[in-house]
Amino acid sequence: MYYHKLGKIPPKRHIQFRQEDDSLYKEELVSSKGFSGIYSNLYHIYAPTKIKAVGKVSPFGSKIMTDYGLRQTHLNTSKIGTTGDDFLSGRKVLLKNADVSIALCVPKSKAMDYYYKNAEGDEVIYIHDGSGELHSQFGKIEVKKGDYVVIPRTVIYKFKWNDEPLKLLVIESASPIETPRRYRNELGQLEEHSPFCERDIRPPSEIITEDKEGDFLLKIKKHDQLHEYHYSHSPFDLVGWDGFLWPYAFSIHDFEPITGRIHQPPPAHQTFQAGGFVICSFVPRLFDYHPLSIPAPYNHSNIDSDEVLYYAEGEFMSRKGIDRGSFTLHPGGLPHGPHPGTVEKSIGAKETHEYAVMVDTFKPLFLTEDAMEFVDKNYPMSWTE
Ligand SMILES: [Fe+2]
Repeated sequence: MYYHKLGKIPPKRHIQFRQEDDSLYKEELVSSKGFSGIYSNLYHIYAPTKIKAVGKVSPFGSKIMTDYGLRQTHLNTSKIGTTGDDFLSGRKVLLKNADVSIALCVPKSKAMDYYYKNAEGDEVIYIHDGSGELHSQFGKIEVKKGDYVVIPRTVIYKFKWNDEPLKLLVIESASPIETPRRYRNELGQLEEHSPFCERDIRPPSEIITEDKEGDFLLKIKKHDQLHEYHYSHSPFDLVGWDGFLWPYAFSIHDFEPITGRIHQPPPAHQTFQAGGFVICSFVPRLFDYHPLSIPAPYNHSNIDSDEVLYYAEGEFMSRKGIDRGSFTLHPGGLPHGPHPGTVEKSIGAKETHEYAVMVDTFKPLFLTEDAMEFVDKNYPMSWTE
């Protein structure tokens, strides 16, 4: 990320910065990697440490299947109904390992009458359906269908969703979500060969300053539990902030695809990196233009990664029987490839209108108990004509 600021801040860090009644604003340094990573300085009306009560703790995790076995997997989540009551209980985690978890969230209620922070992971929320506003300590961001909303850990936030169907792909990362290293120069700027640049990153654009007292509930996720904290002031009590650490939105529609004469490998679609996995965006693009090109992918043995695709929009030319909103998992150790007939059918095709989000992990993924009801039992045999 880059340096950004909103609202009022003092001319130097860690100096007196006074409110109208002459009391001091309360400064908070939010820093990553101890004091060595990116950070922001926040200026509060009330002390961020001042709480009213420590509330209840409830489990907030998912159980993995350890005996699922090694098999090509299609999770037929295309017709998934509501997944829970709200934005948190509605997160149905389907795949996970120590580095990442992948959930769908289709909440019954779009209202959030509490604030939330994830204290153990960065979140990437891909908005498959829906629109609204992300409200956080850092301000407001308008969000819409096709956005990746990237929320660093410990950012306190809530969403205000518009009244329309809502479906979210929620990717939680144990390590920071970053833009791909190979697209950044030595000072962090996205380079000319990057498929997107800083203009495509949408930072918070309007500070929210709620100077009010009462009972404000904050739910904090840590240790696979939700911890309730009660504050006597709004957590959105900032008058300003500056730094490199802030939430942002990036639309899959702003990802400029890299194409070539012959088939481009998945790294050409990489959008984010994190410890132990990457996120890639498949977007509408011209197909390969060598006179003998085969637009469909080749068979692939991924020997040290598990590959997850979430089919967002359009016809996926290499897959049969996969609908909008389904997942496939092609685990390391088994070759996967285009379905029978799709290679021949792809020859001569000029372009694709597909959208998909790919999550490739370097450690094996586990399906969760919640994923079991969506397993398409015929999928391992789907390459046999
Ligand atoms: Fe692959």
